[in-house]
Amino acid sequence: KFECVTCTAPVNIAVIKYWGKKDESLILPTNPSLSVTLGQDELRAKTSVAVSESFKEDRIWLNGREESIESPRIQNVLKEIRRRAHKRSADSKGESKLFQHVHIVSENNFPTAAGLASSAAGYACLVYSLAKLFAVQGEISDIARQGSGSACRSIYGGFVKWKMGEREDGTDSYAVQVAPESHWPEMRALILVVSDQKKLVGSTEGMQTSIATSELMKHRINLVPKWTDEIIEAIKQKDFTTFAKITMRESNQLHAVCLDTYPPIMYLNDTSKLIIRLVHCINDILGVEKVAYTFDAGPNACLYLLEEDVPRVLHLVKHFFLPAQSNGQPSFVTGIPVPE
Ligand code: DP6
Repeated sequence: KFECVTCTAPVNIAVIKYWGKKDESLILPTNPSLSVTLGQDELRAKTSVAVSESFKEDRIWLNGREESIESPRIQNVLKEIRRRAHKRSADSKGESKLFQHVHIVSENNFPTAAGLASSAAGYACLVYSLAKLFAVQGEISDIARQGSGSACRSIYGGFVKWKMGEREDGTDSYAVQVAPESHWPEMRALILVVSDQKKLVGSTEGMQTSIATSELMKHRINLVPKWTDEIIEAIKQKDFTTFAKITMRESNQLHAVCLDTYPPIMYLNDTSKLIIRLVHCINDILGVEKVAYTFDAGPNACLYLLEEDVPRVLHLVKHFFLPAQSNGQPSFVTGIPVPE
C-alpha cells in the first residue's frame, strides 16, 4: 500500500523583516515580522510526501537531487509531525502509517537560495503536505517555523504576521493572517531578479552574526514592534503611502544593520542600489509614494505597488534595466500578482 499527498506553497516576501533569533534550535525570533504571501501560481514550492510499507528509510529529494534526511531542521519537522499525529491517534488503536517511512520530493519553480525565500515556501509546503498525510489538525505554522523561521508565514495567504511570542517553549510563536488576499486585491508585487546566484552569506548565519556584533540591532529590536503595528493599521486602512514608507524604511534599516555587522554583510549590489534610486525618482515625480522596494538577504528587489501603477512602473524598469541584460548583465523582470 502506498499513500501520497502533493501540495504547493507560495513564497512570502516580508515588509517587516525577521532578522535575529533568541533561540536557535526552536527558531524563536527577536522581533515580530509581517509579509505578503504571493499568488499560488507564481514563485512556489511543490512537494509530494508518500508513505509505504515497502520504504526502508526516510528519504528526501530536493530539485531532483537526493539530500541528507539527517538535517536537524528536517528532523525537527518530521519528529514534531509524528508526535502530533501519534497523540491524535493514541485513543484509537494507532495508525500503521505512523510507523512507516516517508519519502519526500520537493521542487521550486525559481532559483534556490538566491534570496527568494525558497526555504520559506519549501518548509511551509513540506509541513502542510505532511500534516495532510498524517491527518494532523490545528495550528501547523509553528511546525513550519522550526524548519525555517520565515516559512511559518507561507502557511497562510494574504497579509501575515509572525507573532514573536514570549514563552520559552515557543508555543506562542506562530503566524496569523492579518488580512486575506481579497482585502486589498489591487496589491501587486514585482520581483526584479538581479542575480540568481547563491548568496554569499545565508540568512541563518547572517542574522547570527548581526545579533552577536551589531549595536544598531539593539535599536532595531525596540523599533520593529511599533512599525509592525503601524503597517498593520495601514493594511487595514488600505493606506498605500504609509505601507510603502514603512516597507522601504524597514528594508533600508535591515541592510544598515547588515552593514553594521562585523564583518559587514552587503547583500545589495550596484543594480539593487539603482533600483532604490529609480523607485525614489518615480515617487518624487509622482509626488507621493506609489512604489515600494524591499530586499531580503540578497540583491533581488521586490517592488510592491497597486495594479493601476504596474504598466508605467514596469515600462520604466524595463527602460532602465532590460538593455543591460543584452550586455551580459543579469536583470529581468517578472510580474507577480498578489493575490492570484
Ligand atoms: C531576510 O527564515 O531563511 O528573508 O529561520 O534561519 O531559516 P532561518 O532564516 P530565514 O530568514 C529570512 C530572513 C529574511 C527576512 C524575512 O523573510 O522575514
